[in-house]
Amino acid sequence: MRMSSDGFVHVSDVLRGSLEGERVRLRGWVHRIRKQKKMVFVLLRDPSGVVQTVIKRGVVSDEEYSAATKMLVESLVALEGTVKADARAVGGYEVQVDHLDVLHFAEEFPITENQSVEFLNDNRHLWIRSRKMTNVLKVRDEVFRAAREYLRQNGFYETTSPMFVSTMGEEGAELFEVDYFGRKVFLTQTGQMHLEPQLFALERVFTLAPSFRGEKSRTRKHLTEFWHLEVEEAWCDHDANIRRQEELITHMCHSVVKNRAAELDELGVDPERLLRIGPPFDRMTYEDAIEECQRRGLDIEWGQDIRTEAEHVLTQDRDTFLIVEFYPKEIKSFYMKHNDADPRTYKNNDMLAPQGYGEVIGGSQREDDAQRLIENLLRIGDDPEKYRWYIDLRRYGSVEHSGFGVGVDRLITWMLGLEHIRECVPFPRTVSRIYP
Ligand code: 4AD
Ligand code: MG
Repeated sequence: MRMSSDGFVHVSDVLRGSLEGERVRLRGWVHRIRKQKKMVFVLLRDPSGVVQTVIKRGVVSDEEYSAATKMLVESLVALEGTVKADARAVGGYEVQVDHLDVLHFAEEFPITENQSVEFLNDNRHLWIRSRKMTNVLKVRDEVFRAAREYLRQNGFYETTSPMFVSTMGEEGAELFEVDYFGRKVFLTQTGQMHLEPQLFALERVFTLAPSFRGEKSRTRKHLTEFWHLEVEEAWCDHDANIRRQEELITHMCHSVVKNRAAELDELGVDPERLLRIGPPFDRMTYEDAIEECQRRGLDIEWGQDIRTEAEHVLTQDRDTFLIVEFYPKEIKSFYMKHNDADPRTYKNNDMLAPQGYGEVIGGSQREDDAQRLIENLLRIGDDPEKYRWYIDLRRYGSVEHSGFGVGVDRLITWMLGLEHIRECVPFPRTVSRIYP
């Protein structure tokens, strides 16, 4: 009998084919069950896949057979049997069972076919085990892993930033207030401002953590709690920052194809979608982007932000990322580096996903001149005193540096062509949902 150290193999081991004719032990959940007079067909599920198993009266004991007939979907079972090639079975193999042990008889499972989105969201704790969610979560895992791999290989240290903050990090994005022993503090919108001080110790740093935004946007790309991959690099200017973004995103896309091909296939995603991503990405200035939007009939002017509609116009026909650079100061944050070539703008960039999936990265070279930083704050009516510690960084060995933040959930949403960002998060938090 073939077995791993705990005596069980995984479904994927069976489907690989090399165990044909061998006896195996499997355990998992009943994904589907079909009962005939003398036979019970169980589609058995574990994290690695589903496989057909056949339980025949007379082959297993009478007690075992009787138990098998009583199982409902999602019952937990351990079984032993022989692997046989079978062209009619999903995956091409089935297991002919000779022993089984029902470890837990499930009650009637509330999720059946064709449930409404609302119902599935209310039952997220159970929907998690669907094939779709299982595959999405495995891709998500790979995205996190690949990001860390790329950054580590390139000399970045993984570090952390606080979630409770006393100052705002991004203008425009709304803050969640928290009562902190009677004081008003906020949940962080970005780890950037606490990442920057750390590059004076480590030069290259990143965090992978949640960010919180109290925007009341009910769109398919907004969460109130999203996962933010933030990178900050010393000795790095605007162009080098963009190259870093391109390389990181490319590595993440290609790693998903390399390590999650089966999941992509089951999710119906063409690997070409990700394989065609490679540097350099398409790139245009904000100014050109506005002109293109105008040419395409949008009512938009220089100085206005590139929002959903404009993003759509700019990216709907693209199948690779678009970098838009040099946005006006009015619509971006005070910490960005002044652009001498066009003093109305900062040295910043956004990265827009193809096909209207929206902004996946916001980044910039950072202002390393204390006086300019203070002027920027005064211009927007903020109090430089509140940012004293942040301005301090520009007083002691101020170094040219840049960074960016990737909206990881948004990136995955585009990678998999999902309808809504919540589909790629285990327990999504949106304006209208905080349960389960
Ligand atoms: O463009 P943002 O606001 O940039 C920053 O926060 C910078 N401080 C990051 C940095 O330079 N370290 O946010 C970065 C990205 C966006 O491009 C978007 O992909 C994602 O975070 N994002 C959201 N994702 C899901 N739901 C939301 N409500 C999001 N808000 C931003
Ligand atoms: Mg942004």
